[in-house]
Amino acid sequence: MRSYWSIALMVAAGMAAAVLIGFYPMLSQAPAAYDDEQEGFDTQLVIKFSHVVAENTPKGLAAQEFARLVKEKTNDRVKVEVYPNGVLYSEVDEIDALQQGSVQMIAPSFPNLSELLPSWMALDLPFAFPTNEAVQEAFQGEIGSTLFGQLERVNMVGMAFWGNGFKQFTSNIGPIVHPSDLRGQHFRTMRSKLLDAEFRLFDMRTTEMPFNQVYRNLENGTVDGGENSISNIYTKKFYQVQKYLTISNHGYLGYAVLMNRTFWKKLPADIQQQIEEAMEETTEWANQNAILMNQKQLEEIRNESRIQIYTLSPEERKEWMNAWEPIYTQYESYIGTELIKKIRKLQQKYSEYAPAPAAS
Ligand code: LMR
Repeated sequence: MRSYWSIALMVAAGMAAAVLIGFYPMLSQAPAAYDDEQEGFDTQLVIKFSHVVAENTPKGLAAQEFARLVKEKTNDRVKVEVYPNGVLYSEVDEIDALQQGSVQMIAPSFPNLSELLPSWMALDLPFAFPTNEAVQEAFQGEIGSTLFGQLERVNMVGMAFWGNGFKQFTSNIGPIVHPSDLRGQHFRTMRSKLLDAEFRLFDMRTTEMPFNQVYRNLENGTVDGGENSISNIYTKKFYQVQKYLTISNHGYLGYAVLMNRTFWKKLPADIQQQIEEAMEETTEWANQNAILMNQKQLEEIRNESRIQIYTLSPEERKEWMNAWEPIYTQYESYIGTELIKKIRKLQQKYSEYAPAPAAS
């Protein structure tokens, strides 16, 4: 009798365990990736957002703010998981990862898009934007919409433009005041044929390199210098391994905030709208914050380090603009005449130093 009861007990325990194991995935609270067949079920959608910079940068903070607002506006139905510092993908493979849906969002800097879509080189033209107002007009006006219009065919949706700041030169060789000061130097460049061509005009060596390898290569002397925003120079501590910084504002570093199009199209309309609202609020805040961060971090570099800082005079800026003028002609066939004309118009509107438009 006793053994009959113990056998019955063991069988019951075994059945209970089997039932629990079988149903475990449904009991788990882990967020699920979006699956339209699950719609109506109580699942949480996950958007993986990968980027390459530090968390305390204009882009890093904007991504976190966007995640916070999406959570709030969707009442926790959507979770944005932010992966900073290139921990998932570097700029070399993040675009592929987005297109294939391995992540749902990225925010590459403009140079990284230009291999796939050459007209994006427009935003990297030297001295393209004389002021922050000109940058905003480009983002929100026809230049921005023309560029976003090209994303559909590569399975992406442009959600917003986020600014970082104007680019400056740093070097270990000597102060960079005139274009001739670059001769013989070896610079790290971002991934762009146009940016590479800009520097090669001055008889120098260039090496294209992912952002997260720059500090090490500046430190060990593989490259002498490069160009970047103050925010990137500060947060990645480039200023600690560089002797000279020139405030040149010779180009603009900004980001296209992109979503995988297949994923976006499958989202229910109410969620799309909440995400768009979150993006709009984030962008307005982020573009103001980026300007403030770059100003504040320049002061911190001044106070914290012995790097020599030189600011180009208006005449010296003019000298650089003239030296880089041939780039506009050389890259017109990639960028498109219409976009170049729009950039020229902005330059005339916002700067007395803008070069005269080429006769057409
Ligand atoms: C760089 O490669 O230096 C920048 O594009 C990094 C970034 O995303 O700001």
